[in-house]
Amino acid sequence: MRYNKTLLLLLACSMSLFAQKAKDNTKRDQFISGLMAKMTIDEKIAQTVQYTADGTVTGPKTGINYIDEIKRGNVGSILNATGVKYTRELQKLNLDNSRLKIPLIFGHDVIHGFRTIFPITLGEAASWDLSAVELSARVAAREAAAAGVHWTFAPMVDISRDPRWGRVSEGSGEDTYLGSKMAFARVRGFQGHDLMSTDVILACTKHFAAYGAAEAGRDYNTVDMSERVLRETYLPPFKATVDAGVGSFMTSFNEIAGVPATASKFLLRDILKKEWGFKGFVVTDYTAINELIPHGVARDSAHAGELAMVAGVDMEMVGGIYMKNLKKLLAEKRVTEAQINDACRRVLEAKYDLGLFTDPYRQSSEQREKAELTKKENLDAALMVANKSMVLLKNSNNVLPLRKEQKVAFVGPLVSDEHNIIGSWAATGDRSGFAVSVQEGVNKIVTDKNKVTFDKGVEIVDSRRDMMQAALNNARKADVIVAVMGEFENMTGEAASRTNIDLPGIQKEFLAELKKLGKPVVLVLMNGRPLTLTWENDNMDAILEAWYPGTMGGDAIAQTLYGINNPSGKLPMTFPRNIGQIPLYYNHKNTGRPYLGPSDPEQKYKSRYIDVDNSPLYPFGYGLSYSTFSYSNLKLSSAKMQMNGKLKVSVDVTNTGNYDGEEVIQLYVRDVVGSVTRPVKELKGFKKLLIKKGQKQTVDFELTTEDLKFYNIDMKFVAEPGDFEVFVGGSSDAILKDKFELVK
Ligand code: BGC
Repeated sequence: MRYNKTLLLLLACSMSLFAQKAKDNTKRDQFISGLMAKMTIDEKIAQTVQYTADGTVTGPKTGINYIDEIKRGNVGSILNATGVKYTRELQKLNLDNSRLKIPLIFGHDVIHGFRTIFPITLGEAASWDLSAVELSARVAAREAAAAGVHWTFAPMVDISRDPRWGRVSEGSGEDTYLGSKMAFARVRGFQGHDLMSTDVILACTKHFAAYGAAEAGRDYNTVDMSERVLRETYLPPFKATVDAGVGSFMTSFNEIAGVPATASKFLLRDILKKEWGFKGFVVTDYTAINELIPHGVARDSAHAGELAMVAGVDMEMVGGIYMKNLKKLLAEKRVTEAQINDACRRVLEAKYDLGLFTDPYRQSSEQREKAELTKKENLDAALMVANKSMVLLKNSNNVLPLRKEQKVAFVGPLVSDEHNIIGSWAATGDRSGFAVSVQEGVNKIVTDKNKVTFDKGVEIVDSRRDMMQAALNNARKADVIVAVMGEFENMTGEAASRTNIDLPGIQKEFLAELKKLGKPVVLVLMNGRPLTLTWENDNMDAILEAWYPGTMGGDAIAQTLYGINNPSGKLPMTFPRNIGQIPLYYNHKNTGRPYLGPSDPEQKYKSRYIDVDNSPLYPFGYGLSYSTFSYSNLKLSSAKMQMNGKLKVSVDVTNTGNYDGEEVIQLYVRDVVGSVTRPVKELKGFKKLLIKKGQKQTVDFELTTEDLKFYNIDMKFVAEPGDFEVFVGGSSDAILKDKFELVK
């Protein structure tokens, strides 16, 4: 009875919320229709135009003077303008020159923090902690909004299976399921529950679509794939953000199957706007309309503008083609008034939703900005997320955690670094000494200064050797050596693809020298992609993957090394043994000649290499803890699952080690026989739980038919009856296994 009452109450609440939303939308429609009735075609076109301010420039220069254009009333949006003083000045200039007082929307790349920098996105994904990731986006939004930013070009949700691609650092890795959950959490974090609230910002899902599948991992390169792979692997994280209510989308630079995404009606109108019912607006990537010419699908800039508008691009980033050509294209009937109206309306709706028509400054003030940026609460959140993103890759003989009484030689080019530690795409993050270095972090923990030394030893890429001896001398006197190494932050991110993903420079040579000293050597890595670490895995005693951990990174690394934080991150991307294995990902197909490994009685004529095993060095989902977890008692609620029914999967997880710790319990499924081939396993659920030492927890998952669906032989998204295998464990090479049958 009571249960029914609660249900009724919930129903009534959601109905009234629904009614309220419908009322708000009617109000918005009336306002915008009224406004658009007064707008000239030039004013409408201006809403589709975005120029860059003087900030970070991430593409070709166009020579367009954004100030002059604002004065002419030709601009709907500005990117790369941040800070209350500057954005207020520009907004005022715009309003003074806009006949109908239509506010500008300011966009910026707030990817993993604004001033307080969190771990790079790939690192955050390694936390497998959705509330931590949502909090990171919330803090970033609060800071950005306080600094006059309205809109972020994030989340970046590109799935990628190629670590050569520099932009894997900006995404959530190789897996569709994990990527979709992360994408959803980030939109929720950036946008909050109500865009009108002045401490949230509009999110923008990018890069639509399949940018992460660039051939050979070379940025901006060609993409070609079946529609099945596109829909099953690459699109779901995008769809997840639509479900989360994201306000905008960005097109990608690449072509897919011969059509550049920025001119793809199939992607923008058919899938995004029609099939998914996306109501927000679509912006291009930086000069992506201009690039339709070198792509070879547009004769000239007018033709490029026509293709983009017809395809469904609502706003052009930087290139100036819409402003120059749309009116003429309309007169020549190459685009329609309805298309321009729709683009303009979508942009105006976003501005309305952000409350910009009521307060074009969104209550930004220099006091608020000062109080918000890097406030303690934000730094604490950044430390918490950084701690959760640490992945322990190896820990022989429990060399970690370190003990304060041990004498430790800290060495390596990143040991005192305050610049690279915040990673690439760090918005307005301070690279000049604000971030906590590893040295500072260690010094806060180890008070006896005789116990620690800090030496660079070598540079990241430069091969100078003159600092090596001093470092080796200190290392010789230590009980343990910790080498902090990695990539320069700008070796990852946009336009930073590598054909060699070893540790750069002579860092490995230095490690070999350290190893000769006969002391345990711990390698701490800062990098934005999986690296090839076969030698390091064979020769180092412990390896901690710290990614670029952000403003509080040095504290997080030190706390992890000294056991104040027990590492709990798991890899969101496979680490290959060597570069020739790429692309290498856990959810591959079985092939007709699957190789069973060294114990396979048939070694020839199998899908394998003759010089290296098929297995990765570290699989997707892998990561150690200072504790150990054992899995037992895998149970399914039934051996059969009814079509449209559910199945409960439960497993006991016991912390068998000496530390309390968090574990990411992962559930994978394999569809044994399908009308088309299916991956050897696919992630379908995970839970991150704190389990105290010696304790056991029973963990439940629910599988539904939705989890079993795929695009069948007729491209219908269905679950097919038949046998399924279930795997549960702490990594994608989970071994506990059971099976069930899906029946009609
Ligand atoms: C990048 C986008 C970014 C844009 C604006 C482009 O070069 O591909 O991810 O949002 O620049 O800075």
